[in-house]
Amino acid sequence: MKSQLKEKKFDFRTVQGISSNQLMQHYQLYKGYVQKINQIWTTLAQNQFSDPNPTYSPYRALKSAETYALDAVKLHELYFENIIGIKRTPYGNVLSKIIKDFGTYDNWKKDFLNAGKSARGWVVTTYDPIDNKIRNYLSDAHDQGAIWHAYPLLVLDVYEHAYMIDFGIDRGKYLNRFFENINWEIVERRYNNIFHQESNHSEPPSHSQHPIYGNRGWMTDW
Ligand SMILES: [Fe+2]
Repeated sequence: MKSQLKEKKFDFRTVQGISSNQLMQHYQLYKGYVQKINQIWTTLAQNQFSDPNPTYSPYRALKSAETYALDAVKLHELYFENIIGIKRTPYGNVLSKIIKDFGTYDNWKKDFLNAGKSARGWVVTTYDPIDNKIRNYLSDAHDQGAIWHAYPLLVLDVYEHAYMIDFGIDRGKYLNRFFENINWEIVERRYNNIFHQESNHSEPPSHSQHPIYGNRGWMTDW
């Protein structure tokens, strides 16, 4: 089985306060990850692998690179998508849910910024159907720190390559620019799509309705 990805195109003209040079350098890096995952999949498809081994084997090296490269592609696409657009103010179901889970929007933002100053790679605001909560997670590499089956709502790249050209080592300034550019229409759409795609509900499903966790009888607060 051979699968190939094509890089997505993003119109960065709406992004304010981050230079086109910075964004295009970053985009080139993303394109490199697309090329690498295609190369990895081609190599896996065209070769027979003997002597698999957990310390070192060609198969293990390729499979480790596969998750690294593919997660890099997905995270960059989510990141680029959520900084382009014009809807800069939080609203809708996702804002209500943020306030419900964090008390206030500012509480969530403070936690997100703390994660942004602590992470070595990524910050991802997720919705997790295991307990119907939104949380901010940090990740030190593309393939580390992910929570299985938690849905990404907002993605922030804090690798130095995301801001060094414009802001040097001043990550705080970059975080402020990121917040000014968040496309809340995308964040709201991602949140609403979880329920439409999974169970055709416009509200979070009850524990008895959820297709994955529906039989978790000990979960009582959904
Ligand atoms: Fe990046």
